[in-house]
Amino acid sequence: MARYTDESRERVRDAVDILDLIGTRIDLRRAGADSYTGLCPFHDERTPSFSITPSKKVYYCFGCQATGDVFTFVCETQGMDFPGALEWLAERYNVELELASEDPQAAARRQRRERLLALLERTAAYYERCLWESEEAARAREYLAGRGLAEDTLRAFRVGWAPSAWDRVLLASRSGGYSERELLDAGLVQRSQETPGRVYDRFRSRITFPLCDKRGRVVGFGARTLQAGVPPKYLNSAEGELFHKREQLFGQHLARAAAAKAGVVVLCEGYTDVIAMHQAGVTNCVGLMGTALTDEQIGLLSVLAPTVVLALDADGAGQAAMLKAANAIAARGRIELRVAPLAPGSDPADVLARDGAQALPAIVAGAVAFVRFRVARILAAGDLATPEGRDKVLAELRPVFGELELGSTREELEREVAAQLGVSERTVEGLLAPRAVGARRTAPTRGEAPLTLPDGAERSERAFLELCIALPSAGGALLEQIDLDALFASPLTRRAAARLREDIDAPVGGDMDEQLARLLTELTVRASALDAIPAQLEVAHRQLELARVERAIDSARAGGRAGVAGLGHERAKIKREIDDWMARALEETGAGSR
Ligand code: UTP
Ligand code: MN
Repeated sequence: MARYTDESRERVRDAVDILDLIGTRIDLRRAGADSYTGLCPFHDERTPSFSITPSKKVYYCFGCQATGDVFTFVCETQGMDFPGALEWLAERYNVELELASEDPQAAARRQRRERLLALLERTAAYYERCLWESEEAARAREYLAGRGLAEDTLRAFRVGWAPSAWDRVLLASRSGGYSERELLDAGLVQRSQETPGRVYDRFRSRITFPLCDKRGRVVGFGARTLQAGVPPKYLNSAEGELFHKREQLFGQHLARAAAAKAGVVVLCEGYTDVIAMHQAGVTNCVGLMGTALTDEQIGLLSVLAPTVVLALDADGAGQAAMLKAANAIAARGRIELRVAPLAPGSDPADVLARDGAQALPAIVAGAVAFVRFRVARILAAGDLATPEGRDKVLAELRPVFGELELGSTREELEREVAAQLGVSERTVEGLLAPRAVGARRTAPTRGEAPLTLPDGAERSERAFLELCIALPSAGGALLEQIDLDALFASPLTRRAAARLREDIDAPVGGDMDEQLARLLTELTVRASALDAIPAQLEVAHRQLELARVERAIDSARAGGRAGVAGLGHERAKIKREIDDWMARALEETGAGSR
């Protein structure tokens, strides 16, 4: 893969007309001075929620949260990787790309990586051929067919067969010009214990599942034995230069487009589960690799879609894993979590084999909000026959309800709890009601780490930043004066603020991590849809000051410290200022004239 200079990438960005680029896919309508909208190309909708900010060349969908720039648009809509999209755009908008001259060390590293990737790629192709052509793989073909997995799905996932001999990959790769060192580093061979100095194929007599990075390049394998009772059931590539189990989501390169379009990604436990789901048409499905969900995997999930449906085994261990996964996901905020009800002891691959393909989409469609799943589980596990048991159930339900807003879901669950406990709804409502003190904010429940920041805080921090972008001169000046550490409770919005302080006019572009880039893009597009006036910025600023003082009051109280009175005065003053600025803002926008 060629590497191009950052400068030529930016020249391409400058040359692209984003309205022309996106306008060839969807109809766009002007929505403001620097804002266009249309029907989102990433999810099905009937009223437009997809918005573009032409001056910044970015887009954001208010419906499915798709966000990006001209490069991601081409990647996502045409299934290209970044260099591919860059070349495509350069050609279309007549920009000459310049190859980067790397320093010799970096060039050597890259070439090495590319050789390892090429070695893994040809090995995957070899295993694939073995599965469909070799005689000894007949039992593997029978086994897979017996599990209801069809040839075209297996081919899409490039499932293969590692022959029983000790040296097939070794010999073929050597004659292809690869060194023993490279074979070891790619994780395809391992050293012999008996004969020092000898190496032999790592995967033998196993069905192979290529493990790919998000661009679909093979970085390792998971390989299943056909012999019952000879562990390990699955032998995976060892951790190495290219393969990191923590960063794997099985099948993500195949699920990407469908997940973006549906706004949902389905998460299963194993390789065969994911393949079964895809075969059944649930192509927005990825797999967990059998381990506990890692932070890296959560990050990848959050980029794939805003809603995650857990389709994990529902047995005791599976449920505990689900709860853990759910807490980990909730801690990252802004991912909606649902649970698909699988019968205990069965996974999606079993369902496919037993009930056929049509059963799987139905299970996914029946996913319930995670909170319902938790309530049902606590009720099912509790001892409802004794008063002590019922009290315990209520104690376990309290933190769950503590995180649940008032509304129809809450009411419905309260009715359910009342029916199961044999008490009146009024009683349940009272017992599970948010406590009056501190109800403003969800307090972390005992035994559980604080999961999310108070939503309100993050929301007002984002609103403030949107206004800063919408009013760049006032916003930029304000950002330079304020104390970011004191005013921003959320680390992510604080980083966004720091970035905007550097350059309010070009919030996106350059080097930054994906999470930050997504937030800044979203804020930029939201800002361009605003008709903002300075008085609103004043209000938003003081709302952050108010939140700061309230945090200080909370912690002073909690620590039994003095000075609460002084803080109280400060709070009152800020509130008065908010009222004043609010009145002015209403006057100026004319909203107050009625
Ligand atoms: P399971 O034991 O549930 O296997 O492990 P499975 O996916 O249902 O396998 P089949 O359907 O019998 O073929 C779930 C996942 O855990 C990982 C694999 O990713 C597997 O798909 N795993 C399991 C390993 O990595 N190593 C093992 O020894 C077992
Ligand atoms: Mn299984």
